[in-house]
Amino acid sequence: MFTLIKEDGQARRGVLKTRHGDIQTPIFMPVGTQATVKGMTPAQIEEVGAQIILGNTYHLNIRPGSDLVHEMGGLHQFMNWKKPILTDSGGFQVFSLSKLRKITEKGIEFRSHLDGRKLFLGPQNCYEIQKNLDTDIAMVLDECPPYPCERDECESAVARTIRWAGEFLEHATRDGFIESGHHVFGIIQGSIYDDLRQHCGQALAEMDFPGYAIGGVSVGEPEEEMIRQVAATAPVMPKGKPRYVMGVGTPPQLLKMVGLGMDMFDCVMPTRLARHASVFTPHGVLNLKNERFKHDPNPIMEADNYTCQNFSRAYLRHLIMAKELLAHTLLSIHNTHFFLDLMAQARAHIEAGDYAAWSAAWIERYNAGNQ
Ligand code: GUN
Repeated sequence: MFTLIKEDGQARRGVLKTRHGDIQTPIFMPVGTQATVKGMTPAQIEEVGAQIILGNTYHLNIRPGSDLVHEMGGLHQFMNWKKPILTDSGGFQVFSLSKLRKITEKGIEFRSHLDGRKLFLGPQNCYEIQKNLDTDIAMVLDECPPYPCERDECESAVARTIRWAGEFLEHATRDGFIESGHHVFGIIQGSIYDDLRQHCGQALAEMDFPGYAIGGVSVGEPEEEMIRQVAATAPVMPKGKPRYVMGVGTPPQLLKMVGLGMDMFDCVMPTRLARHASVFTPHGVLNLKNERFKHDPNPIMEADNYTCQNFSRAYLRHLIMAKELLAHTLLSIHNTHFFLDLMAQARAHIEAGDYAAWSAAWIERYNAGNQ
């Protein structure tokens, strides 16, 4: 169940109900691919304000296997995370990670990136894996066309995505998965072709999913093109359902997409950049390896998180230079908090009715510092 509380221009403030609690939108979802947000304990993830995290069908089914997770009581119990979880369907990761994949009308044949085992992912077992994980929000199996992509190749990817979405939903509905409070989101593909995205969006809307995602963005296209695709797809996404843009993005990208009526986002950026010594601030990204931070007694920024409340840039730089594990944890705490706090600010400004002016000023300041 999704409830819109307030609209401000196209930006929306909503609440998505799940079996593990309510999610206030717009929201950023930290990525926990292998049943862990890299470098952070569940208590730390909760403390920085995460309301929901992501897991991954592709990885978890290869290792440790969804049967094992099921045996251990489901993903929440296995990893000791009590709030909502969304699992990606794995199609996208098959394309980015595994070799020797072959797409048929039935699904995707591929070899594990770990041991070369032959595996298969189709709409039915993709559903069953996510049911085994006992996720709160399951994503349908989709085919994400590469960028750039010829129109005819994209047409067949969209046709398969629509058919697989229908099959996935049928299995989930027949099984009582949706009735028992789980959500299933459809994924809109179509690359740069607006009419294909609109066709895909309309076909999925007719199937009446509990939520909708835009996939196939941030796959190498220029930023303006990505924003244009989201803007072109938004009108065919049902207003009363949550809208999720997969795998994005930078702070300005998130704010622009919230301004286009998008509600949910996920990205590895906060934790990945943390592992490369980069930290987010309202004035852009800083790399703490830089010599200029060697004697800097200040926190990364004034922020209400454990890292900024307790440690100087000089100390964090020391941990990084000494290759200490704690550096990853402290920088991930800061970066993840930064993204979650940005979404909290966005929610407050939508409620206050000044989202457009606030987000434009925020982006301008961030970009000016990021030169
Ligand atoms: N993560 C980022 N992009 C995508 C996409 O297009 N499809 C899926 N399933 N996951 C994604």
